[in-house]
Amino acid sequence: MIIAVDGPAASGKGTIARALAREYGLPHLDTGKLYRAVGLSVRRAGGDPADPAVAERHAQALDPALLDEPDLMSSANAESASIVSAHPGVRAVLLDRQRAFAAQPGGAVLDGRDIGTVIAPHAHAKLFVTASPEERARRRHAELARAGDTRDLLSVLADIAARDARDSNRAAAPLHRADDAALLDTTELAIDAAVQRAIALVAAAT
Ligand code: C5P
Repeated sequence: MIIAVDGPAASGKGTIARALAREYGLPHLDTGKLYRAVGLSVRRAGGDPADPAVAERHAQALDPALLDEPDLMSSANAESASIVSAHPGVRAVLLDRQRAFAAQPGGAVLDGRDIGTVIAPHAHAKLFVTASPEERARRRHAELARAGDTRDLLSVLADIAARDARDSNRAAAPLHRADDAALLDTTELAIDAAVQRAIALVAAAT
């Protein structure tokens, strides 16, 4: 069984995807980490994430050790990930890796922006997880504060809005809900309630 979970930044899709993987005993891939690793690789080398040739070269020679770097999840790196992910060449390099993960015997859960639309269009269950920009900013702000980052809420909201716009308006595999994806709005839901709702939606789809 392949479960595709897509949605914008801080919508809760990662938490939901991990919970679904536990529920169904499936391996899970957070595909955002792949783009974040490419962004980090470019930044560490002093390159420009907006340069398609540079970003593609880093995607091809991606060091898997980068996937475990704490800096991977920083907001500066989220920005780089979003920039490199708009290059079709970068997406093409990462496509096979994601499809191979999805094709494991028994299935898999993948979360990202284009899982239900591009990576696994024949997934057995597709969820599009969203929440209001204000609620997503509030969650990301709290997460950053726990990690000792004292940025203010408005600047977090501005970053999220900029990333949403870039991810939704790019030509290559933009963020959008697949026609057959179930919508899960987590704005008013606590984590446990959102996970229960996700499990019910997957059960209804399979
Ligand atoms: O999910 P996360 O916020 O970690 O993703 C970081 C960035 O990677 C996103 O803003 C998006 O630009 C990109 N991404 C993507 N396609 C995916 C997953 C992430 O373009 N499947």
